[in-house]
Amino acid sequence: MNQKMSQKLQMVRKIEENKIKNISEDTRPIYHVSSPVGWMNDPNGFSIYKDEYHLFFQYHPFSTAWGPMHWGHYKSKDFIRWEQLPIAMAPDENYDNGGCYSGSAIEVNGEHILIYTGVIDHYLDDGSHDYRQIQCLAKGDGKDYIKYRHNPIISGEQLPEGGNIKDFRDPKIWKEDDGYYLVVGNRAIDGYGQILLYRSANLKDWKFITVLDSSQGEYGKMWECPDFFALDEKQILLISPQDMRAQGYEFHNGNNSIFLYGTYDKENHIFKREKVTAIDYGLDFYAPQTLLSKDGRRIMIAWMQSWDAHITSESHDWSGMMTIPRELTIKNGRIYQTPVRELSYYYQNKIIYRQQTIKEMIDFKGISGRSLDLEIEILDFNFEHFAVHFACNEQYDMELIYNHKRNCLTIDRTHSGLVRDVVCRRKMKINKMEMNSNEEVLKLRLLIDYYSVEVFVNDGEKVMSAIFFTPLEADGILFDTDGSATINVTKYDIRV
Ligand code: FRU
Repeated sequence: MNQKMSQKLQMVRKIEENKIKNISEDTRPIYHVSSPVGWMNDPNGFSIYKDEYHLFFQYHPFSTAWGPMHWGHYKSKDFIRWEQLPIAMAPDENYDNGGCYSGSAIEVNGEHILIYTGVIDHYLDDGSHDYRQIQCLAKGDGKDYIKYRHNPIISGEQLPEGGNIKDFRDPKIWKEDDGYYLVVGNRAIDGYGQILLYRSANLKDWKFITVLDSSQGEYGKMWECPDFFALDEKQILLISPQDMRAQGYEFHNGNNSIFLYGTYDKENHIFKREKVTAIDYGLDFYAPQTLLSKDGRRIMIAWMQSWDAHITSESHDWSGMMTIPRELTIKNGRIYQTPVRELSYYYQNKIIYRQQTIKEMIDFKGISGRSLDLEIEILDFNFEHFAVHFACNEQYDMELIYNHKRNCLTIDRTHSGLVRDVVCRRKMKINKMEMNSNEEVLKLRLLIDYYSVEVFVNDGEKVMSAIFFTPLEADGILFDTDGSATINVTKYDIRV
């Protein structure tokens, strides 16, 4: 191992520290991880090390735009309160001069091992631009990391025939009884994405095993940021395809994240795909990664942003947030997502209203704010539209609209204060839940933070996430319908 922290890393750590001093904590989300300063994208290295949860992320601390990628770093004991740590890696070697791209982490014999994609970026003698992507290793003590002297650990030589070295990234590592495994995204000879499986006994020498699955033009082009894990009886391959086309309401155009459900024959390394669903139906969600918590829960976190319809605040020196970490379970053949239960440690000021019949726009005393967990149960449905307005005042309005006739839920940020012509509305199909034999309920749980909302429908059957940069004084919450609706409302403020 190369024992010294590079000068470049020492320098960026200092720059980061100084820049952060100028950022007021009041401008940050209350319970969502946000970029310490500058740009953040994908979650990386989401893992347990020495009994704490670590979260690294794609990071460009020098500006609020994407640039040469570093690994920023946070840790937490409960997924909600995060402590920021100094930058873990900078692009300071020949084999990662174009960036330390996404990857994962694992604890091995008391050391924290990071596996990431190094991008080699250079100009050839004929003046043309060339880059390659390879897999690299670093190790550390939970704060300081050093890169392996013999990087890369996986290069072009270990690619299957036709695999493109320009799109070969985002390794996710885990351990099995017979050694370490990793999955990594790659572009196949047909130009579409595929997921490659590798095995190693010692973390340093890796062998290509098989292609686990591939797009073949069905689900987007390049497949980024894979994850692969058992969930109850199923095996899930989680991927983030680029260049997807919408199919009804199930997927939307552009960069997307999907669950491939299937079975896995571990002996022969055969993944059999059975079905595919979108992970999040909102405007801002990409590159999720999971870990297995200390008590055995599969927890997923994602970048809460869109590559294409990217929005950020002109008045903040940071750009980028993560979703709430979400627990995954399978119910009725579908992956349900619920906010980590640790969120309840931070609940305050509980307010409940029961059996309220509303016929016009109305607010409820005590229900307002910009950092809360709000659950609405709709108990009867004599209306065509039911809407929840939040982050609203005379000037601003975020809307969640349920169209009963069409069984459709729309998130709309048109009036959130945006001055850019970006995508503002997204819809998803939803169903009511059976309550008793002939009663139905629709549950809408809104996790609202300063600049985001995550809507969990029917205990997490479907989710939609969106960000908005509405001024914080817009903290109203209103309920509205064009007919009559009876609702229960439960609210907790969240204070961290
Ligand atoms: C996904 C992604 C990854 C890559 C990283 C670069 O959002 O494109 O494939 O490693 O971002 O920042």
